Amino acid sequence: MKTIKVMTVFGTRPEAIKMAPLALELARRPEFETICCVTAQHREMLDSVLDIFHLKPDYDLNIMEPRQTLSTITAKCLGGMDQVLEKARPDLVLVHGDTSTTFAGALAAFYHKIPVGHVEAGLRTYDKWSPYPEEMNRKLVGSIADLHFCPTPSNRDNLAQENITKGVFLTGNTVIDALQTTVVKDFSFSEKTLNNLDYVNQKVILLTCHRRENYGQPMTDIMTALRRVADAFPETELVYPVHLSPVVQEAAHKYLDNHPRIHLIAPLAVDEMHNLMARCHMVMTDSGGLQEEAPALGKPVLVLRRETERPEAVEAGTVRLAGVEEETIFHMASQLLSDPVEYNKMAHAANPYGDGQACRRIADAIAWHFGLRDMPPETFSA
Ligand code: UD1
Ligand code: UDP
Repeated sequence: MKTIKVMTVFGTRPEAIKMAPLALELARRPEFETICCVTAQHREMLDSVLDIFHLKPDYDLNIMEPRQTLSTITAKCLGGMDQVLEKARPDLVLVHGDTSTTFAGALAAFYHKIPVGHVEAGLRTYDKWSPYPEEMNRKLVGSIADLHFCPTPSNRDNLAQENITKGVFLTGNTVIDALQTTVVKDFSFSEKTLNNLDYVNQKVILLTCHRRENYGQPMTDIMTALRRVADAFPETELVYPVHLSPVVQEAAHKYLDNHPRIHLIAPLAVDEMHNLMARCHMVMTDSGGLQEEAPALGKPVLVLRRETERPEAVEAGTVRLAGVEEETIFHMASQLLSDPVEYNKMAHAANPYGDGQACRRIADAIAWHFGLRDMPPETFSA
């Protein structure tokens, strides 16, 4: 039987979480020979995901350095990928999302004339500075890719507006596949702080904040607003697993240290994170992934950004844009905490991003593209 060599390339925590179930699905199927290459743009935060999903990379470029710049990440990924692609010679390279690893992985494959599949294709804000540099990364990868796996219909429409209509598949987002394997009813946290929280009588707010375009004043505003929220609402407990970026670490500790109900903790393993999300009262975040996961778990989300490339959950009513200004963030959080009607309007499960079958559809699409299957994959509908 003919087999197709598919190489997954990823480097950061969110790419790993969203690629892991796909890498496992491909490995399960006899028609594929799978190769896993990590750039390790993130080191500890990547390794934690690899552990949880029992994934062992075939190639590890180990490129991370403290306070790395966009240019060094891209240059090191490109150089490392050259040798890997020369040696492994895959039939298809799969990249995910919009990080520097995504862009460099796609570009390296293009230089080697290897087809590229883009997982999580078609997300757009149409502002090249926000999110920065992700909006540009995903547009560039959209131009390079041969196969485009779109989570939602509006992602597919965005590509159509750019005249990308061939090789486009509507699959749902693989993050929902991942979420379905991690959340369990009686989960016991290994992080002590999380086991000790009172999820019934207190309102646990889960906070994450790490985006480059929020460095500086926006991050100062966000953290100052969050401290005011904790002060104003004694029934809240704020849990912030702080990203390992030194810029983020400094800001978090400067503004949020030494408060009895603000818990700055180390980044959580993904199963801990998903189960915390399932138990918390609400989420405040500038993360992309959390905007997809929290609605699926019925948790209201205030997005700490000016825009979002994920409008579907805003339309479904579970996500609101809170921006990056202190007063607005404080006001919107206060409203959600004090008005049960507003809270209940937002706290319902919405699954515009997937049904847990995205990996199966992507694997089917690849098999179809390479002539190993008679039928195209079914189309995802929310
Ligand atoms: C990257 C992605 C961003 C994604 C985010 C997810 C780019 C340009 N940015 O941003 O799209 O949303 O990951 O978290 O690709 N660090 C560690 N250990 C780790 C991870 C990071 O020490 O395991 C520190 C290092 O000092 C590193 C810094 O964090 O230099 C920043 O990491 P980097 O990947 O450059 O940027 P992120 O902000 O994480
Ligand atoms: N996440 C995690 N541990 C944490 C924080 C986040 O496992 O301490 C998960 C989160 O559930 C989501 C993904 O990491 O699946 C989001 O990654 P991140 O916020 O770093 O990046 P983004 O999604 O903004 O690109």
